[in-house]
Amino acid sequence: MKIIHSVADLPRNLTGSVGFVPTMGAFHEGHLALMRRAKAENNHGVVSLFVNPKQFGAGEDFGRYPRDLDADAAMAEGAGADFLFAPTRDDVYPTDFVDVVVRGVTDRWEGAHRPGHFAGVATVVLKLFNLVRPDVAYFGQKDLQQCQVIRQMVDGLNVPVRLVIHPTVREADGLAMSSRNRYLSEEHRAKAPLLYACLIEAANAIRSGGNVASAEESGRSRLEQAGFLVEYFAAVSLPGMDPLTDLPGPEGTSAVIVAAKVGTTRLIDNVSL
Ligand code: PAJ
Repeated sequence: MKIIHSVADLPRNLTGSVGFVPTMGAFHEGHLALMRRAKAENNHGVVSLFVNPKQFGAGEDFGRYPRDLDADAAMAEGAGADFLFAPTRDDVYPTDFVDVVVRGVTDRWEGAHRPGHFAGVATVVLKLFNLVRPDVAYFGQKDLQQCQVIRQMVDGLNVPVRLVIHPTVREADGLAMSSRNRYLSEEHRAKAPLLYACLIEAANAIRSGGNVASAEESGRSRLEQAGFLVEYFAAVSLPGMDPLTDLPGPEGTSAVIVAAKVGTTRLIDNVSL
């Protein structure tokens, strides 16, 4: 695997297809699953590692986001990546006068709780697409709303990249893998799987014809009783991320989503309906 720090060193005119996995590092099995798939389905696997300042709000964890290039490089190599692109801030933001703003799908949930976050994500992902020029890009369902934002950006701006969404990779106890799980104390780590358990419970209730609002309410209150600070617990329709008011449509056209803080750590997760 080749580690590339400068845009000038990016490979050009590779023969065959390029599968691309954009990341912010601190790799876990979720990232590695995307990398393995990108390589398995393409001739070349490219991973980018860039902790994008633009997508962090004031008071978020940009400064303390885990950074360990050597460990990440070893893991990416083990997952079959051919190139690890770890650009500098100046390479990604030679100037900073242009933002990609996706309207609509960003109105609620993460968009409402993290103002500016999705403009930061869409901007950096389009930049990375322009730098890496992949054929196919791989994203995790873990960040469901992010997937819908990137889909809107690609469709709305005629971006010639095919998107693949990969299922959420979980710990044995159900907790969705996340770079932020390492912030959890032992006590909070023990509580964290309740997030997924409540999502499953709500999804089962809604699937079997239960009332959406009461499924949301019982998920939220179970989490609050366990000490979580719940930002949202909601059933949504896809791809628009609008609140689900009616029965869910065909499988995969809606989801239950949650964001909650346990201690100071903010976790998000979702399950398909
Ligand atoms: P990051 O959080 O590093 O995640 C990189 C990719 O891994 C994203 O597509 C994310 O959805 C996926 N991922 C994370 N945890 C996962 C899990 N448990 N199972 C499956 N996939 C998982 O998401 C970002 O970085 C950034 O916003 C980025 C798209 C790189 C733009 O800066």
